[in-house]
Amino acid sequence: MTYQIHPATLTDVPDIQQLNKKLFEHEIASGFDANIDANWSLSEEGKKEISARVSSPESCGFIAKDGDTTIGYLIGRIVEEETGRAESKFAELEHMLIDESYRGQGIGEQLVNNFKAWAKSKGLKLIKVNVSFKNAQAIKFYNKVGLEALDVTLVGNL
Ligand SMILES: CC(C)(COP(=O)(O)OP(=O)(O)OC[C@H]1O[C@@H](n2cnc3c(N)ncnc32)[C@H](O)[C@@H]1OP(=O)(O)O)[C@@H](O)C(=O)NCCC(=O)NCCS
Repeated sequence: MTYQIHPATLTDVPDIQQLNKKLFEHEIASGFDANIDANWSLSEEGKKEISARVSSPESCGFIAKDGDTTIGYLIGRIVEEETGRAESKFAELEHMLIDESYRGQGIGEQLVNNFKAWAKSKGLKLIKVNVSFKNAQAIKFYNKVGLEALDVTLVGNL
């Protein structure tokens, strides 16, 4: 089966919001992160941020389609970090999801490849993603597409 991947535009924002909601619900139900706000995706704030990401030259979105149905998305942006490292600019993959019944067919990898090509066209050399430490499947996926663990953020209650 072939699926179409293309850059996201403002008309794709409602579909991305729905898929982002699935991502957050998945992360909460799996016990990855109790601090995720499940209401963000469909909120005005969520709509505003996703709309900004697909409109700005400093960020991007890609979607995967099966016919008229959006079955996956990726949102990313350029971030600059004062880390004391030689390269301070990163292409940050912020969030992505492939609808459950379409996983394991290489669609996620194709979205990441599109994001990498976009980042290279912007002159960037490094890609990064923050992923829940307990999300073993996603970490395995990111390893497969060439990302390796570097820093680990530890969080505790005060
Ligand atoms: C992680 C994710 C985006 C990968 O998308 P995908 O289209 O299934 O990825 P691909 O088909 O390109 O690669 C499959 C690889 O991903 C991993 N994987 C993760 N979850 C998987 C699943 N449910 N089914 C199959 N493979 C899965 C495996 O390592 C697999 O590698 P393999 O084929 O060598 O066994 C997708 O599983 C997903 O949407 N997960 C839920 C949301 C999530 O965790 N997002 C990342 C956090 S931002």
